[in-house]
Amino acid sequence: MPRQAGRAFLHTPGPTHIPDSVLNAMHRQSMDLGDPKFSNACDDIVARLKPLFGTDGDVYIYAANGHGGWEAILTNVFSPGDKILLIETGFFSEDWRDHAREIGLDVETISADWRSGVDPQLIADHLARDVDREIKAVLLTHVDTAAGLVTEIAPVREAIDSCNHPALLLVDGVASIGTMPFHMDNMGVDIAITATQKALMGPPGIALIGVGKQLHSHNREGGYPRRYWDWRKRNGPSNYAQFGGTGPLQTLFALQQALVLMEAEGFDNIFSRHARIANAVHAAVEIWAGSGDLQFNVPNRIERAPAVTTILTPEGYDSEKLRGHLRSSLSVSVGGGLGKLFGKAFRIGHMGDMNEPMILGCLCSVEMALNECGLAHGKGGVTAAIESFYQSRNKVL
Ligand SMILES: Cc1ncc(COP(=O)(O)O)c(C=O)c1O
Repeated sequence: MPRQAGRAFLHTPGPTHIPDSVLNAMHRQSMDLGDPKFSNACDDIVARLKPLFGTDGDVYIYAANGHGGWEAILTNVFSPGDKILLIETGFFSEDWRDHAREIGLDVETISADWRSGVDPQLIADHLARDVDREIKAVLLTHVDTAAGLVTEIAPVREAIDSCNHPALLLVDGVASIGTMPFHMDNMGVDIAITATQKALMGPPGIALIGVGKQLHSHNREGGYPRRYWDWRKRNGPSNYAQFGGTGPLQTLFALQQALVLMEAEGFDNIFSRHARIANAVHAAVEIWAGSGDLQFNVPNRIERAPAVTTILTPEGYDSEKLRGHLRSSLSVSVGGGLGKLFGKAFRIGHMGDMNEPMILGCLCSVEMALNECGLAHGKGGVTAAIESFYQSRNKVL
């Protein structure tokens, strides 16, 4: 295949585009693990992560991807056979469910259709029926990256409280933390997880877990046999203990630089930038879907994620063809449909280090690809996205 000139555009919803200064932060020699420069960097990272999670509790850093982080949570909090309630909102919540089942938890579920959130009353009713208080926790995926669906946390917390149920609230914030307001202590979230390859603009390989102060003071400890995942061992004074072995040095320096960038931009500005970019994507998709056979996976605008938009392709069309065309002839990578949406959807990722020209480049390329792949769609999606940006910029200029 001939060389493709110019930059490739990465618009998958993780891994996401890595800023140059974050890439450069990794370009360094390994160092003595006893070097205070490394320990100071680790302390600095933990201090910067607490406001990201919105907790005065603890934050644990694992050399692992998000799946590893899930296992760390499950084995630290529960014992084999414990009952939990998992809210199914899409592929990732189902994957978390399977993970929990395979390690021996008794998982009850409340399912939605991946296109809209679960009615919180169903959660309250389910917990109210648990008269013996056997359910140890409710597990919620805040943004299901496959569905592009947000499930608000507050109504779930209210549902738990409405029946005075002691269940913990565990939140997968892998595709929400750093894209939208999140304050686990204020939201009544006991444990939250994210990973570096999403809004944190870094390379994959680090899972981050926030453990709320309240949970710690109750000193909840699961009974799973565990060694590497055991977070009690990670409070030790040395960074060797903190990482359960050699810390992922270069990746950690990348994480530190990403957190410096986030602080320089400010969380509120980051959240409004994500909202602005998501609105522009939605404006384009609304036009494309206005005539032809494309559809939003999440029809209700309020439930669409600021991180990713999932677009359904027409019945009988293999969406991987569109994705392949974008990648091979336009140098644009978008996400594919996952699980039951495989071959039936594509996903435009818009989280992390993203600005207007980047997303417009992506939207222009998608519009070209829709034409070139013969997918019927309304004309003028990109113009609608530009108009959406004009409107939001006029408010601030
Ligand atoms: C919401 C959500 N949870 C968990 C994961 C799993 O993370 P990882 O792929 O790093 O294991 C992902 C990955 O995309 C995700 O989007």
